[in-house]
Amino acid sequence: MSRAGSNNSDGVMAPTAPVIVVDGFLPPDLALAMRRDIQAHFANPAQHRPETHQVWNYWFVPGSYTYLRTTPEKIIEQGRVEAFHNALRDWSIAVLGMARATWPYLSLYVSGCRQNWHNDSVNGRFGFVYSLTRDERRTIGGETLVRREADPFRTHLARAAVGDEFYQAIEPRFNRLVVFDDRLPHSVERVDGSMDPVEGRLVLHGHLSEAGTVVAGALSEEMITPPLLELLGQVREELSAEAALYNGPLTLRITVAAGGMVAACEVMVDRVLHPDPGHVEWEPLRAKLVGRFKGLRFPAAGGETVLIQPLLFGGPLGQG
Ligand SMILES: [Fe+2]
Repeated sequence: MSRAGSNNSDGVMAPTAPVIVVDGFLPPDLALAMRRDIQAHFANPAQHRPETHQVWNYWFVPGSYTYLRTTPEKIIEQGRVEAFHNALRDWSIAVLGMARATWPYLSLYVSGCRQNWHNDSVNGRFGFVYSLTRDERRTIGGETLVRREADPFRTHLARAAVGDEFYQAIEPRFNRLVVFDDRLPHSVERVDGSMDPVEGRLVLHGHLSEAGTVVAGALSEEMITPPLLELLGQVREELSAEAALYNGPLTLRITVAAGGMVAACEVMVDRVLHPDPGHVEWEPLRAKLVGRFKGLRFPAAGGETVLIQPLLFGGPLGQG
């Protein structure tokens, strides 16, 4: 499994990578069973009936989107989609500290289908794309393309650059999960080749976002809420001016010892960005925030507790 970041020698987490690729995401049996449901859906085309096969929404937005999408349980057994959704949410909590995963779409790209460049800044913190595409297929294209974070113009003023210096292209390999910062422009390379749907790009996709504090261990939610809310209120008041220009999530993982003291506060995810790429004041502000969380005191409990606290800069989703 890919890691979202890595500890440097000071024990400070490096900023989370903008793109995370996890190969072999689901147990192979489950991935193969989902793929078999898709194959079964498209088998025996002469016998397809309206009630079982009029299920695809041809989503065509001129200049933006050209593909087919549906609710996955119309094609894949509901329990399998639920197992995928649960595995994704568990992964998202463990790696990103984000407990909300949208119910996925199932999308199909046959020859000519594509997505143009866009972002999903107000749809989620991270986008996910899980591929059920065959590794050996009679089509080309269908890569998820995610723009590099560096300014594509200013970073190449005096030298030639092509393709992957401007964007990362991730092939839709079978059982591969791709998770990327939803604010980064992304697109899908046009698929060309066979018109047979089983040869196309088939993916489950949607968005991940925070769902408040995640608590595991001896302390109950009722016991952690008052000190945590008090600190969040103080921090909001004290740092609102400094924090105003930042955008993105910072997730902290706080270990509370049995006695109620904070034993550790690690940065799990740092995707906080400032509009000015030369800005250098984020790390001191982040250290100040971590320091405040380290000073938290909770009631004593029978054992250790781990809290995962997402902090969001730049406002909630859905507000531009
Ligand atoms: Fe998107």
